[in-house]
Amino acid sequence: MSIIETNELVKYYDDLCAVDHVTLSIDKEVFGLLGPNGSGKTTTVLMLTTLLRPTSGNASICGHDIQKHAERVRSAISYVPQDMAVDIKLTGRENVMFFAKLYGIPSPKDKADEALALMELSERADDLTRTYSGGMRRRLELAQALVHEPSALFLDEPTLGLDVAARKKIWEHIGSLSRRGMSIFVTTHYMDEADRFCDRVGIINRGKIAACGSPEELKTNLMNDIITVRIEGMCQPPDLEGVWYVGRQEDEISFTAENGKEALPALAETLTRNNVKVRAMSLREPTLDDVFLQAVGQQEEPHGFADSKFRMMLRRRR
Ligand SMILES: Nc1ncnc2c1ncn2[C@@H]1O[C@H](COP(=O)(O)OP(=O)(O)O)[C@@H](O)[C@H]1O
Ligand SMILES: [Mg+2]
Repeated sequence: MSIIETNELVKYYDDLCAVDHVTLSIDKEVFGLLGPNGSGKTTTVLMLTTLLRPTSGNASICGHDIQKHAERVRSAISYVPQDMAVDIKLTGRENVMFFAKLYGIPSPKDKADEALALMELSERADDLTRTYSGGMRRRLELAQALVHEPSALFLDEPTLGLDVAARKKIWEHIGSLSRRGMSIFVTTHYMDEADRFCDRVGIINRGKIAACGSPEELKTNLMNDIITVRIEGMCQPPDLEGVWYVGRQEDEISFTAENGKEALPALAETLTRNNVKVRAMSLREPTLDDVFLQAVGQQEEPHGFADSKFRMMLRRRR
């Protein structure tokens, strides 16, 4: 049995399906729920943390059903919401101790100090939180979430609004918590961060899981090389040997190829012959952005170009 399991979880807000039959299984790892704004990440987390009732389906955490045994679930988890606020009129230690007391922890000061040390905040523990940077506040929120030693930690967009260095630090702390044996369920819409720091990701789009696996696995389902082409106007993806269409984002179309260097001139020539105005072309390795584009394309064009192409591509790779 996995630490976090969801089975066909569904949430409707009136007639909007925000979470659409989500089935996931998460162990002691950093699992990233990755998707654009409005894709259903927060709704999923709210259901798993017992704050929102699913419309249908079920889920369990450490074997406790989120609906039948909500109390047990709550004692096994911690949740840091996207817009959690620390009390800026209190010191760091006071903020954490407030949580420790709330959880009824026997020696709240010791536990608070331990959590503050883990988050590298010991030196600033007696300063008012008002004087903390954004990254330090986020770490303080993590310290608050750690005082009752949860088995599973839910973090909703923990790096939103932080600068690059602070983001990296948050992810490093997330990694070290996971190595201590905690299951971490983290949401983000930053593909590059999920790629670098998550053991596995579930890509969610319009409430549906479009792809799930380790970033490496997901990327190797694409070919070796990604060719991006910036164009002007419309473009019907050409039918070209060894080149497969991935998707389009604004004026940029992506293709995947086994050998990008060989495919690039052929693709350029074909596009030009088809009267497509090519502004720029480039070659690079696949990223999770490409995986997202491909997965979403498959979801949204079940009988379209991308789907048939990718079926073909997958057949070839077997
Ligand atoms: N309380 C609510 N009432 C109605 N619709 C909501 C509510 N919360 C979220 N939604 C809608 O559900 C969808 C998923 O939202 P959310 O789970 O917040 O996505 P994310 O966290 O990925 O940005 C969005 O279309 C959003 O507008
Ligand atoms: Mg959200």
